[in-house]
Formats: sequence, C-alpha cells, structure tokens
Amino acid sequence: MSEQSLIKLNDGNMIPQYGIGVFMIPDGEQTVNAVKTALQLGVRHIDTAHAYQNERSVGKAVKDSGINRHDIWITSKLWVSDYGKDITTKAINKMLNRLDTDYIDLLLLHQQVGEYLDAWKEAEQAVKLGKVRSIGISNFESERLEELCNFASIKPSVNQVELHPYFQQNELKKRLKKYGTLLESWYPIGHGSKELINEPLFTELGEKYHKSNVQIILRWHLQEGNIIFPKSTNPQHIKDNFDIFDFCLSNEEMQKIRGLDKGVRFYNATLSQQEAMFKNYRPADD
Ligand SMILES: NC(=O)c1ccc[n+]([C@@H]2O[C@H](COP(=O)([O-])OP(=O)(O)OC[C@H]3O[C@@H](n4cnc5c(N)ncnc54)[C@H](OP(=O)(O)O)[C@@H]3O)[C@@H](O)[C@H]2O)c1
Repeated sequence: MSEQSLIKLNDGNMIPQYGIGVFMIPDGEQTVNAVKTALQLGVRHIDTAHAYQNERSVGKAVKDSGINRHDIWITSKLWVSDYGKDITTKAINKMLNRLDTDYIDLLLLHQQVGEYLDAWKEAEQAVKLGKVRSIGISNFESERLEELCNFASIKPSVNQVELHPYFQQNELKKRLKKYGTLLESWYPIGHGSKELINEPLFTELGEKYHKSNVQIILRWHLQEGNIIFPKSTNPQHIKDNFDIFDFCLSNEEMQKIRGLDKGVRFYNATLSQQEAMFKNYRPADD
C-alpha cells in the first residue's frame, strides 16, 4: 500500500507530508471514524483546530487506534480568542486536555488577527516546556507575516494557506524562503470544487496513470513539496486519496499543471473582513 513521505521542517522535526484534515466534520462518531479509517490505512498525520470543535474525537481516535502516539503527527490551531498574554498558555493546556495527549506535534496560530504576537511568545514558551514540538502560522498573507517572522525567536515552521492548482501561492513561497517556512495547503482539492476536479488535464493524466482526477491533483501537490491533508468522511475517498505513492508525474506534466494557476481563490476575505469576522467568534468547547 502507500508509503509515508516525511519532510524536514526548519526546526529539524520530520512531518508526514500527507495527512487527513477534519474541518467541518462534526465532533463524535464521524470524526472518530474518519480518523480511524485513515490511521488504519497508514496515514499518520491529522490536521484539526480548536475552531473545528472536534479535537476530543481526534484524541479518542488516536487512543482507540492502539498506534504509538509517537508515530502519529497531530496538528492543531489556536483560535483568535486563545491569543493573549497569560491567555495562550492556558489555551494550550486546555487543548492538550481536549486532545488527551502530553504534547502537540504542530501548533498553529489559525488567523492573522488579534493578539498574535503575544500568542507567538507563549507558543515559543510551550516549545521550551515540551508541550509542543513545532510551531507555525496559518492564513498569514498580509504584512503581518513579516512582522511576526521578524518578531519570532523561533521562525514559523509552516504557513497553512489556501493552495491548489488554481491558486498556487508562488509569491508567498518566495516570501517564506528566507525563514525556511514551508507551505501547507488547505483546500488541496478546492474544497471539492467540481470545476477544479473536472479539469480536462486531470482527466487526461488520470487515464494515462489509471488514477482519478483527485489523485492526480494530490500527486501534483506532493511533487511540488506541499504538505497536504485532504478532508473526507467517505472511506473510499480516504483510501483513494492516500493511494498516490505508486506513480510519478513527469516534469512536463507538472509544468502543464502549473499552467492552470489562475490566481483565483475559492475563499476571499480582506484583512478588515477577517478582523470583523474572526475577532467575535469564540469556539464553544473550551
Ligand atoms: N487553516 C485554515 O484556515 C483552513 C481552512 C480550510 C481547511 N483547512 C484544513 O485543510 C483541510 C482540507 O480542506 P477542506 O476540507 O476544506 O477541502 P478539501 O480537502 O480540498 O476538499 C474536501 C471536499 O472534497 C471531497 N472529497 C474528498 N476526497 C474526494 C475524492 N476522492 N473524490 C471526490 N471528492 C472528494 C470531500 O467530500 P467527502 O467527505 O464526501 O469525501 C469534501 O467535500 C481541512 O480539513 C482542514 O484540516 C484549514
């Protein structure tokens, strides 16, 4: 079956390049089942967040799987209401409790609004205390990215952003290079967009390699060096999505897919809209 490929982060930790994301999967049986299915297949990386309100189910699936905790990579994200002096440390302790684990592999600041510098300082402290192994950011695309990176003693290991063949983030990749920060892709298959999935180029390549269009897109991400965690609750999709380690796109094919970049996002919000939306939201399950 599929093999894991590991990528070295700027702090030396090795992250599995492929995982499962659990955004919008309800807490309880659905999250537990999706994560267990993935773990049984050999997936060893789970991407959740406080805001998804399903960390308890992720923790339960990990425990129930019987797999050694050290063989699984868990990423979670602090929400904006978790940011602040003396607030972030408490929020991390609560997160450890919800995930039922002694440490988090990768802790991200979910959004570029609020008291993100204070949050970063306390996230760095959590690394020193062994509660967190790696720290990173998500959705930092404004000038706040450089502000945070210049402020940071520990440079972000990753920036998790919207990234797929229609929005390839080449400019952001260049901005991150000097910090050694890698890109993680959210919406790797465009949040299930039919327009993206049904691109004739993916159909053509799918026929050549006996793979689905989604598998071609995911394989493109791997060869681009993106860290991915497509979401699915469908066991067949979870299995198929991970079955992408037995073929290789040629340089010419990679180049053709690069040509699909339209610079168009599926999710659009200006910084001031992000400020307005995110500052008032507080996840219910503290
Ligand atoms: N940091 C952030 O702000 C942020 C934002 C968004 C997402 N994320 C992370 O990124 C992860 C992935 O993003 P996403 O879940 O929004 O989008 P996605 O992974 O691009 O797409 C998920 C959608 O594609 C469908 N799908 C999955 N596999 C498929 C297949 N083989 N064939 C056809 N359809 C398939 C899923 O439906 P089924 O369930 O029916 O398979 C679901 O509707 C999230 O779970 C989360 O961990 C982070």
